[in-house]
Amino acid sequence: MATLLLKARLALELPPINAALNRAARDLPEAVRPVAQHIFDAGGKRLRPLLTVLTARLCGYDNEDIYDLAVTLEMLHAATLLHDDVLDNAATRRGQPAAHTLFEVTPTILAGDALLSHANSMVADYGDPRLCRCFSEATSRTATGEILEIAAQRRVDTSAEQYEEIVRGKTAWLIRAACQMGALRAGAPDALVEAVAAYGENVGMAFQMVDDALDFAPESETGKPTGGDVREGKLTPPLRMYRESLSENERAAFDGAFAAGLMTAADAEAIAGRIRAAGYDVRTRQQAEQFLDRAREALLCLPDRPERALMLQMADYVRDRKK
Ligand code: IPE
Ligand code: IPE
Ligand code: MG
Ligand code: MG
Repeated sequence: MATLLLKARLALELPPINAALNRAARDLPEAVRPVAQHIFDAGGKRLRPLLTVLTARLCGYDNEDIYDLAVTLEMLHAATLLHDDVLDNAATRRGQPAAHTLFEVTPTILAGDALLSHANSMVADYGDPRLCRCFSEATSRTATGEILEIAAQRRVDTSAEQYEEIVRGKTAWLIRAACQMGALRAGAPDALVEAVAAYGENVGMAFQMVDDALDFAPESETGKPTGGDVREGKLTPPLRMYRESLSENERAAFDGAFAAGLMTAADAEAIAGRIRAAGYDVRTRQQAEQFLDRAREALLCLPDRPERALMLQMADYVRDRKK
């Protein structure tokens, strides 16, 4: 299915989303603003705030105050990216130098905390404890997912179930919360809030699997380092498929370098080329379909408004996205 309507809607929603983000940036403490402005200005798809706006409208909410709420999810997202690039030793993000390479590690981590904290107070301004709880839980689940991922790092015995638990935490929960908060603000009944939450969680699972496929795409296309997951010892689905395709001797060599953290950028590039040639990235996208089907199913009990069709298109977009 084409995603033309979704792209047209994004073009309409981006200006108010970015305006709200700039307003929020202006209110940040002086010391934090350059770091936040760097990551905001570098771009990004603004997927999470878009989902908050879409779910609110889907549930019948037409107030313009949704944009300030929507950008709190982008602020949380940006804070996790600031921290994630430190954890992952990533030099680039959104096609720009990663913040910690420009502002040093400690100021970047603290700027992430301050950004998150400011987003929290913006959520609190809506005066609805359910929104605060949802936002807090997303923060905590994301951090927990990242902690579990660090614990699994450089382990070739990381199971597919462990991988799923990591992804549900580090990525899916925030996307789930983005959807849920739109519905909560709209005052939607519990059944609808649950349905958009299930939609978001499953879209989020698929989104990360596709991110793991894109880890092996050229940096010129994604704006992020190629093969970072190899270097950092993350046994994602394409890398698991690659490892399983190796002969016993090759696998022993792979396991040794992976476990010892000895994979170089050149090793990562070489493995990325082999993964693309074998189509393990494409197969990972196909595996993400199981989650997208659950997301599509969750949409069935939601009102038949234009946003529902856009959220259906979003599932195809997530599977096919190139960055
Ligand atoms: C990157 O998210 C982090 C993941 C959860 C995979 P996005 O791919 O949405 O990043 P931006 O916001 O577009 O840069
Ligand atoms: C995505 O982690 C989740 C968070 C940023 C919390 P990744 O490490 O897989 O994301 P990218 O690929 O760096 O964007
Ligand atoms: Mg990363
Ligand atoms: Mg990471």
